[in-house]
This record gives sequence, structure tokens and C-alpha cells, in this order.
Amino acid sequence: MSICKPLAAALFVGFAFGSAAYAANTPGLGKPVTESDIKAWDITVLPDGTGLPPGSGTAEQGAKLFVAKGCNQCHGDGAKGGRANMLIGSPSLTEPGISANKTIANFWGQPTTLFDYIRRAMPWPTPETLSNDEVYALCAYLFAGNNLIPKDEVMDAQTLPKIKMPNRHNFIIKFPDRI
Ligand code: HEC
Repeated sequence: MSICKPLAAALFVGFAFGSAAYAANTPGLGKPVTESDIKAWDITVLPDGTGLPPGSGTAEQGAKLFVAKGCNQCHGDGAKGGRANMLIGSPSLTEPGISANKTIANFWGQPTTLFDYIRRAMPWPTPETLSNDEVYALCAYLFAGNNLIPKDEVMDAQTLPKIKMPNRHNFIIKFPDRI
């Protein structure tokens, strides 16, 4: 114990002195973050539709993009599943229990999650390469394929948040008034 106290004090002084010296002699790396830098990262879409960009797309366009962008190579023909999970299909959530395959149609609570997810993460491994129109079209294709919208409904910032996801009432929402 007797060694510990002076050692701790020495470390503290050393750290305080060291950080002051560091601040005075920064290597000058990096550059200030600009508004447009932040905008590129600030792509979250909220359940009420906040953050959805301008643009639109249809299921017909989305069906073509699903092949052209290679989504089918992992998610299977017609999005019925392959190396990666099915995006169209609604197997039972209760049978066989905890190991049930959770999909967009049987599990996801908010339609806006689909736009956010595809824009942010797909197509693997080249995410953030799709235009907003393309993301809307892919969403239209997947929602229509899951019978959650009519085949000819156009997806945009107004229509997409209005979709009623089948499993929406089965989540415990901590702040329901914020949804
Ligand atoms: C190289 C393989 C690959 C390609 C190509 C690909 N995905 Fe995926 N995708 C995945 C994997 C793997 C996951 C699961 C990721 C995870 O759970 O972390 C996934 C997850 C998803 C999910 C979430 C599914 C869920 O139920 O959680 C969506 C939606 C999706 N992809 C859409 C697309 C779309 C649209 C495209 C084409 C633009 C695409 N993906 C292309 C591999 C791929």
C-alpha cells in the first residue's frame, strides 16, 4: 500500500502534464467536421418517417433491381431465401418457438426499418451504393411480395411509414409516445 499512493500520484501528475503537452503540440492531423460530413452519416429513419429522403419507387422496378443489384444471389430467387435469410415469406413465429425464423413479414415492427436497413447495409458487401429511388423500389418489391401493400402502390416518404406491420403490437415499447 505504501508504494501505491506515491505511484498513483506520480501517474496522475504525469498524465496531467502529458495531456497538456499533447494539446500544445498536436501533430495537426485531421480536419474540422463540416455540416455535409455529418449529413453523410446522419441517415437514420425514425418510425414516424422522420429522415426519409425525397424519391419514390415501385415493386415492378424493385423486382428488376433485386436481380440487377445481386440481392437474389444471397437472398434467393424471389427473395425466398438462400445463403441469407428470406425477405419474402412469413413462417410461423410461435412454432417451433425461440428458434423460429424471424422475417420482415412475421417479426419487424416498423416499415421504416426496411428503408433504413437497406440503405445503410445492403447490398453486402457494397452498402450505401443504392440511390434513394432504388431503396424505395426495393422496399416496394419486398412489401408487395409480403402482401403488405398492393402490387402497384408507390413507395415514398408519405406512403412507406403508413404500412401496418403484422407484428407491430407484439413489442414492449419503452416510450410509446415517441412512436
Ligand atoms: C453477399 C450476400 C448479400 C447480398 C448480395 C445482399 N444481402 Fe442482404 N443480407 C445478407 C446477410 C448475410 C444478411 C444478414 C445480416 C445480419 O443479420 O447481420 C442480410 C440481411 C438483409 C436484410 C435484413 C433481413 C432480416 O430479416 O434481418 C435485408 C432487408 C436485406 N439484407 C436486403 C438486401 C437487399 C435489398 C439486397 C440487394 C440490394 C441485399 N440484401 C443483398 C447478405 C446479402
